[in-house]
Amino acid sequence: MKKDLLKLLDLSKEEILEILDTASYLKDLQKKGIPHPFLAGKTLVMIFTKSSTRTRVSFETGIYQLGGNGIYLSGKDSQIGRNEPVEDTARVLSRFCDGIMIRTFDQEEVETLAQYATVPVINGLTDFCHPCQVLADLLTIREHKGTLEGLKLCYIGDGNNMANSLIAGCLKVGMKVAIACPETYQPDPICLEFAKEYPGMFQCTPDILEAAKDSDVLYTDVWASMGQESEFNERKLVFEGYQINDAVMAVAHEGAMVQHCLPAHRGEEITAEVFEAHAEEIFDEAENRLHAQKAVMYLLMK
Ligand code: CP
Ligand code: NVA
Repeated sequence: MKKDLLKLLDLSKEEILEILDTASYLKDLQKKGIPHPFLAGKTLVMIFTKSSTRTRVSFETGIYQLGGNGIYLSGKDSQIGRNEPVEDTARVLSRFCDGIMIRTFDQEEVETLAQYATVPVINGLTDFCHPCQVLADLLTIREHKGTLEGLKLCYIGDGNNMANSLIAGCLKVGMKVAIACPETYQPDPICLEFAKEYPGMFQCTPDILEAAKDSDVLYTDVWASMGQESEFNERKLVFEGYQINDAVMAVAHEGAMVQHCLPAHRGEEITAEVFEAHAEEIFDEAENRLHAQKAVMYLLMK
């Protein structure tokens, strides 16, 4: 395993599967009520310069269940918000703690933090990617479908951090990926270039039904991400129709799953009916944030 988890593009297929297997193992221990304080005495600092419900609570609960301690550091209330260089924050926190999780805007900031930190750095979402979310997604899909290899995932919506991470994570584990997005909101060119290494496994098209055809997993995310709130009205016009609804479900494989990283906006990227019909899968996915991140913390900080 590498020192850090900065983006799924950095990981091999074997490393991703090791995280998933470790997550299943830790989940089993937790479900059986077997204590697993493998990180006793260790501290994770969690830096947030964006909002969070799932990421914060799952990391904080996860480190606690592993016998360690979590410290929440808000960008606003710390010296990070007063422009202390990330290079210095990295070196200071490395003297106190055993791991750093960061949620912020710029991927470059996370990469620099990792370069200067001597302890593992975990990316808890940037504008570029959301690796922890996709590890939880893969765990959920594998639990529900029994396998990952050969399944087709269709992502409908903005070519954002979720689309970028799904491209990397799903292709690496042998899944096919179809992205349905407006031509002006495509995934990052780095991810489109990466997908060229998987001929016949990847498609990016504005045609929603074509992308959704014969899918095993339908995935979507908000039309405007954190930091893009002011663009919402203009985005709403472009993304109208980029929605998981009955018409989309009708062209997918029978028994197709629905996944959503949450928070969800019913009536925008997904209808209330489809959301509720697939709520068990979606909340299993949310729960798996905990198990996947415990695996990441265990493997990097043990
Ligand atoms: N999916 C996700 O990362 O949720 P939060 O923004 O609540 O952490
Ligand atoms: N694309 C969303 C994901 C939230 C988990 C955002 O960045 O706001």
